[in-house]
Amino acid sequence: MAEDAVLGFLEKNEEISDSGDFAAERGINHNDIVDIIKSLHGFRLVDAQDIKREKWVLTDEGKTYAAAGSPEVQLFLAIPPEGISREELQRKVDPSVYKIGCSQAMKNKWVEMGKQLVSKKVQNVDDKVKDLLIRIQDGKAIDQDDIDTLKKRKLIAPQIWKGYSVKKGPNDAPKRKKVATDLTRENLQRGDWKELEFKEYNFSAKGQPTEGGHLHPLLKVRQQLKMIFLQMGFEEMPTDNFVESSFWNFDALFQPQQHPARDSHDTFFLQAPSTTKTLPEDYVERVKRVHEFGGYGSRGYGYDWKREEANKNLLQTHTTAVSSRMLYLLAQYFSIDRVFRNEAVDRTHLAEFHQIEGLVCDRGLTLGDLIGVLLYFHPLFSGMSKLRFKPAYNPYTEPSVEIFSYHEGFKKWVEIGNSGMFRPEMLLPMGLPEDVRVIAWGLSLERPTMILYGIDNIRDLFGHKVQLYLLSICDLLINTVFDVNWIAFFCHLVLQVDLGLIKRNPICRIGID
Ligand code: PHE
Repeated sequence: MAEDAVLGFLEKNEEISDSGDFAAERGINHNDIVDIIKSLHGFRLVDAQDIKREKWVLTDEGKTYAAAGSPEVQLFLAIPPEGISREELQRKVDPSVYKIGCSQAMKNKWVEMGKQLVSKKVQNVDDKVKDLLIRIQDGKAIDQDDIDTLKKRKLIAPQIWKGYSVKKGPNDAPKRKKVATDLTRENLQRGDWKELEFKEYNFSAKGQPTEGGHLHPLLKVRQQLKMIFLQMGFEEMPTDNFVESSFWNFDALFQPQQHPARDSHDTFFLQAPSTTKTLPEDYVERVKRVHEFGGYGSRGYGYDWKREEANKNLLQTHTTAVSSRMLYLLAQYFSIDRVFRNEAVDRTHLAEFHQIEGLVCDRGLTLGDLIGVLLYFHPLFSGMSKLRFKPAYNPYTEPSVEIFSYHEGFKKWVEIGNSGMFRPEMLLPMGLPEDVRVIAWGLSLERPTMILYGIDNIRDLFGHKVQLYLLSICDLLINTVFDVNWIAFFCHLVLQVDLGLIKRNPICRIGID
């Protein structure tokens, strides 16, 4: 019916100037007309031009006032001629009507809010707001000033109306011919294929999107990061326990027992088993001493170190816990594992996320080596944007450096990691020689992945809100950003450094035997 109406009209007239008016005059639903116009346009039976109009509609609050009257009039009508106490008036009307009504009625100079009594200053009032709202509801025009007032009070909101103006197209016809999309056995038997008009092939049509079987972007980025580490000669640390003792998560890292990060607001402590059973006693003793009295040139923190605090079990709050365990054994390591922090979840924070941790141990390492190694990850980060380094503080590193990358979506720099050189107060109790330096870093896995894929809400990437659709579009992107051969080329030829050498260098094994 809608199609006949459009084609029939265009047969006798030049143009349908407004699909909205056209639909209204004929009592046809405008959406039906729009669907038909789009389809006729596709077959070039008609030419269509967009028409956009801004119109005003009532918000939910506006609708209630259009029905029940504005709050200022409701409030006014609730005041008896002799006046009323504030408490009683409050009891008579809705809390929101009271609040908004009082301020508007005062502004209009309709009422006086005395210390004792609320009383009327005028006899009668008109409900202009209600009248205006009803006019808008009925699609009638109102003054710009009135629109501004209602808009400011959030009683109306703009809505874009979309329609078309329509003219005859190049394939204009009074009726649409049904074109055949398939040549069937029956067509051939009947011989009617000779008269049939076939639909043209659309060679630029997209195929069906493939369903299922996608790797999650976090897994892909994680895999690529592993490749970078392994090519640099790192060995992966065993990250097989989310549950860690406070000793390895904090104390071994020279993190004082009063440090705010240990607070239950930031750390998930375990109820059962609440404490660890075994710790290396002689090392514990040295850690206690360096916290209490310092040593190795440090003054320590000068407090009573408590074994019970160190024994408390928790969910690892950073992968540096694993690093401290492994450093105790000494090598060049990396890990990628899940960590837990008792944080409010928002667009860039989760209470459970992943850290990419790495450490290198050698004589003569400097801050330059740290930044240099971080730039090894640059093929990954440069797909997104530049890196920035900023001085920071960690109890266990000095100097400490935060790593930032630019997020095009947020239009700001976001922190993607933290790093530093482990302090002697942490290393020397482990028994490392004094001249051995350790550079280490912990990067977020989620933040760079977000930047890389232009995802602006971390919850779209990790957790129950992840859409299969997102994973499938990520498939298309990944290969252009990561070219493992290119990374290998970058590492070995351009920088002329092979950190694998450090690993094979006997100096790096000091302290192991
Ligand atoms: N543990 C730090 C964090 O969670 C990261 C880090 C690792 C910093 C190693 C310095 C050295 O933010």
